Amino acid sequence: MEAARTDEVQEGLPVAVTLEGAEICLLRHGDRFFAIDNLCTHAEASLAEGEQHGLIIECPRHGGQFNIETGAAVHYPAFAPVATYPVKVEDGVIYVALP
Ligand code: FES
Repeated sequence: MEAARTDEVQEGLPVAVTLEGAEICLLRHGDRFFAIDNLCTHAEASLAEGEQHGLIIECPRHGGQFNIETGAAVHYPAFAPVATYPVKVEDGVIYVALP
């Protein structure tokens, strides 16, 4: 499913999009793109508003951190992983595969 154009997603500036009712956070690292659930698994917070450090996104609310490639929670107080979705880029368009 088409999510955004690649030039709309810059490294360090995650973008929240709604796809089929799901809130997805799009991120870029170098020339790679990632899609994860936008909702932090610790409490209610938008990960797209967090700070990105390479492959890590830091939740803006309590500082929990997730690996954007694997979804793994890598820093307290987040313990549960965040869902990740397969991404494909074609002709400058980011496509996200939702289950
Ligand atoms: S809501 Fe994200 S770490 Fe608490």
